[in-house]
Amino acid sequence: MQDKDIEPPLLMIPGPTPIPFNILSSLSSYPIPHRSPEFCTIIKECNEGLKKIFLTQNDVFIYASSGTGAMCAALENLINPNDKVLCLVIGNFGARFEKIAKGRGGDVDVLRVGYGEVIEPQELESMMAKKSYKLVTLTHSETSSGAANDIKTLCGIIKKYGALSIVDGITSLCAMECKMDEWGIDVLISGSQKGFMLPPGLAFLAASNKAIEESKKTLYKSFYFDFLAYKQALSKNTTPYTPAINLIFGLHCALKELLKYGIKDLNAAHKHRALALREALRAMGLKLLVEDDNKASYAVTAVYPPQGLSIKDIRAGLKKRNIIIANGQGELEDKIFRIGTLGYIRDEDLIKTISVLEMVLRELGYELSPNVGLNALKGRLK
Ligand SMILES: Cc1ncc(COP(=O)(O)O)c(C=O)c1O
Repeated sequence: MQDKDIEPPLLMIPGPTPIPFNILSSLSSYPIPHRSPEFCTIIKECNEGLKKIFLTQNDVFIYASSGTGAMCAALENLINPNDKVLCLVIGNFGARFEKIAKGRGGDVDVLRVGYGEVIEPQELESMMAKKSYKLVTLTHSETSSGAANDIKTLCGIIKKYGALSIVDGITSLCAMECKMDEWGIDVLISGSQKGFMLPPGLAFLAASNKAIEESKKTLYKSFYFDFLAYKQALSKNTTPYTPAINLIFGLHCALKELLKYGIKDLNAAHKHRALALREALRAMGLKLLVEDDNKASYAVTAVYPPQGLSIKDIRAGLKKRNIIIANGQGELEDKIFRIGTLGYIRDEDLIKTISVLEMVLRELGYELSPNVGLNALKGRLK
């Protein structure tokens, strides 16, 4: 019998991420009526817990959708035809906001940089100085490249010019410091299958009072995602429509686990592991797509393969040992591989991944001194 038959795959990808056993078990409880007092207590506690992760006093709406649903929710509550929207695009997920905004009839400008790069504050400032935008969309951790924007500085600029900021924190929340209220973020979103250690199916969105007020002027709002419906329902500790009850049981359990650490320690642990991984990969002579640690996501690291080795073979070599890493996306498909360090990833998971990666690269003909990556990793994990 192989481990693969009895052990779950080790998901070293930026979502879905591994799920601890107690959270997995909580998902299989018998459903209870969603309007019952017992379930209302669970919703109330989930809202309070999510606020501690989002670092906000605003309510956090829970949608039964994937993360993209919350991206739609943000724009469908706020765009009127011909509204001026600026989309900051550093990869595939930033480009998704651009598509949604155009689909809603926005008058969209785009500030785009290459894969691996981030938005420079001066460039944003010069665009904002030239034109008055109602909304600016931006990505915190860009999962397609492993680059991370400086949200604090960028949102400060957006606020200075009176626009609303819409931040995709889908892979950054839990993994990276993101202070919604302190940094003046107007809409912040995330998703369950990322830092929250849950399966896919829930999206989270918090909106500032200014964003809620602005949504009241929107002409063709989404019915399902309407901010006002969710806000009103939350004032009674419920949801406007039938929630994904069992996923919310899981969320309730996951938030307790996450908050045992507290958001500060959780962010610090992600940073520590991501930087250790980056050090190990460099020690193995591998080139990272985002070379500067200060511009790197702590949720995912994108890596070029050694010359002559294919992404397909590297991923297959790891998969044979039950470790899953991600391919590149879009134009980076088969050009890079990505390793996730998001959610329930422990030191021993990183150690296993680097040891097996070293073995696979050597099998494929890459010359590597024994344990060079592993020693660098262990040195940093101490
Ligand atoms: C940064 C980012 N934004 C948006 C999404 C879309 O989320 P979903 O696939 O849950 O719809 C993802 C998914 O990986 C993501 O990483």
